Amino acid sequence: MRKASLGILVSGTGTNMYSIAKKCLSGELPAVVSVVISSRENAPALEKARSLGIPSYVVRKKDFQSQTEYEDKMIAILKAHNVDLVVLAGFLNILSPYFIDAFRWKIINVHPSLIPAFCGPGYYGMKVHEAVIQYGVKITGVTVHFVDENVDGGPIILQRPVEVDDDDTPETLAEKVKQVEHEVLPEAIKLIVENELRIVGRKVLIRREDDA
Ligand code: GRF
Repeated sequence: MRKASLGILVSGTGTNMYSIAKKCLSGELPAVVSVVISSRENAPALEKARSLGIPSYVVRKKDFQSQTEYEDKMIAILKAHNVDLVVLAGFLNILSPYFIDAFRWKIINVHPSLIPAFCGPGYYGMKVHEAVIQYGVKITGVTVHFVDENVDGGPIILQRPVEVDDDDTPETLAEKVKQVEHEVLPEAIKLIVENELRIVGRKVLIRREDDA
C-alpha cells in the first residue's frame, strides 16, 4: 500500500521535522516525508532535511508580487510531490484562505501552548514561553490542530500538558515543550494517515477500539 506523503513547512531549527522524518524512516510512522519547504534560506531545518535526503526548497514571500503567487509556488511544489498532508512545524508565515482551501482539512500545525491560552496573532516562538512565564501559569503544553482561517483556531487533534517549574526560563521551558512536541506531532500524524479521525464541528473525534 502507498504510504501517506507528507509535506513539511518550516522556518527555523526543524527539530519537529527531524523527529517526524526519523519516525517515518524507522517505520514507526506509516508515512514518508516527501518534501520540506522553508520560508527562510538560512533555516537550520534545511540542513537537517538534506542530511536525510529529503528534497527541500526555499520559498520566500518577499520574492513574490503577491500572497497568492507566493502560495501558488508552495502549492505547486506540494502537489508535484503528491502530498496528502501538510504539516506546519515551526512555520512562521500566516497562510491565506487561498492556500488553506487548496488543502482543506489536510493541514495541521503544532503550537507550543495549550490552546486557547497563549495563542493567536503575535504568539509565536519564544514569545509564547515568555508570556507563559510572565503570567505565572503552572501548566502549559502542546497542541496539534487542524489549520483553518483563524490563526491557531482550527479544531484540536491532540493536547498534552507540560509543567512549568518555578525556576523555568523561556529557554528551558521551550526545550521541555519541544521534547513533548516531538512525540505528540507524530502521534497526530499517525492518527490522520491511519484515518482514525473525524471532524464534527469544532471537535475532532478519535476512533476508539470498540467503534464500528
Ligand atoms: C515549535 O516549538 C513549534 O511549536 C513552534 O515553533 C517551534 C518549532 O521548532 N510552532 P522546530 O523548528 O521544530 O525545532
